[in-house]
Amino acid sequence: MKILVTGGAGYVGSAAVEHLIAAGESVVVFDNLSQGHRAAVHPAATLIVEDLANRAAIDGAMTAHRPDAVMHFAANSLVGESMQRPFLYLANNVTNGLNLLESMMAHGVRRFILSSTANLFDRPARNPIDETEAIVPGSPYGESKYMLERVLPWLERIYGLRYAALRYFNAAGATAERGEDHSPELHLIPIVLEVALGQRKQVTIFGEDYPTPDGTCVRDYIHVSDLARAHILALAALESGSRVYNLGNGQGYSVRQVIETARQVTGKPIPVEVGLRRAGDPATLVGDSAKILRELGWKPEFASLQAIVETAWHWHSRHPNGYAADETAESMRHQ
Ligand code: UFG
Repeated sequence: MKILVTGGAGYVGSAAVEHLIAAGESVVVFDNLSQGHRAAVHPAATLIVEDLANRAAIDGAMTAHRPDAVMHFAANSLVGESMQRPFLYLANNVTNGLNLLESMMAHGVRRFILSSTANLFDRPARNPIDETEAIVPGSPYGESKYMLERVLPWLERIYGLRYAALRYFNAAGATAERGEDHSPELHLIPIVLEVALGQRKQVTIFGEDYPTPDGTCVRDYIHVSDLARAHILALAALESGSRVYNLGNGQGYSVRQVIETARQVTGKPIPVEVGLRRAGDPATLVGDSAKILRELGWKPEFASLQAIVETAWHWHSRHPNGYAADETAESMRHQ
């Protein structure tokens, strides 16, 4: 199959491309490199550096490559930033996502996998959270993903689109070649590992007065390779219908537990300070993935936080400056 992967130079998207290529698929990456990295794109993939705001560029990619399916990772994905810049999220995630879908419909592409989010569940009645939980987006970011989710059944009815919406809990970990490199880095695990590498003095815990066992927020960390495998299974399963899944490990870890795990994995002390709560953070978010296990046989291979952090540490200690060194080497090769 030929698969167009938007955001295939980004953290989760680049890991998915790696897995798709290992599974023998042909991949075209469409990425504006605003957050992604050229060096993160698997060398066997074709890279189109373009923006989803540019409908003509999407149409050009559809005409030139005639994909059988689209996996849509490209998005802005920071809950806090979306509270400050809602229109950025509405434009990049909703408007550009609709550009992509409209181009797909015009070119007869009828298979679509959406990266959705646990930020649809701001006030869960219970944890772990399954697909029957009421949807209450926690931010314009979550809302933007929900808007796209809501469009999909209409496109199914009108055009015969088959889709899967995969709602990730906290993507984490690394493959041997690809890891997490955001600028600025705002995610807990890479920040903690930067402290372990001596690149930051300490990690600030955003609040310890939450109604959780140790007072810090509890999250469900899921390995990028497990997310990637879920995409591949979901794509194959579209033949028998559209679907929506929550993707987590089903186990929550507090911020303090993440830091303690990183101390064990790295052997470094990792100093902390306790700061204020970060606006918009729910106390506990844990996913229930029984549905995808039951229907597609998906099961996380990296089920423990320790295993996930080990892979992230492996990558970060080999790439202390993220993709920067690889990109410099690449640009020198092209001179
Ligand atoms: N945290 C700290 N200190 C830091 C950074 C984070 O205490 O320096 C805490 C946060 O308050 C939160 C936890 O660590 O409780 C995890 O924070 P991340 O920023 O790593 O991840 P989020 O849970 O905020 O968000 C991630 C993705 C979103 C997605 C969400 C779904 O970034 O896109 O998971 O659960 F919507």
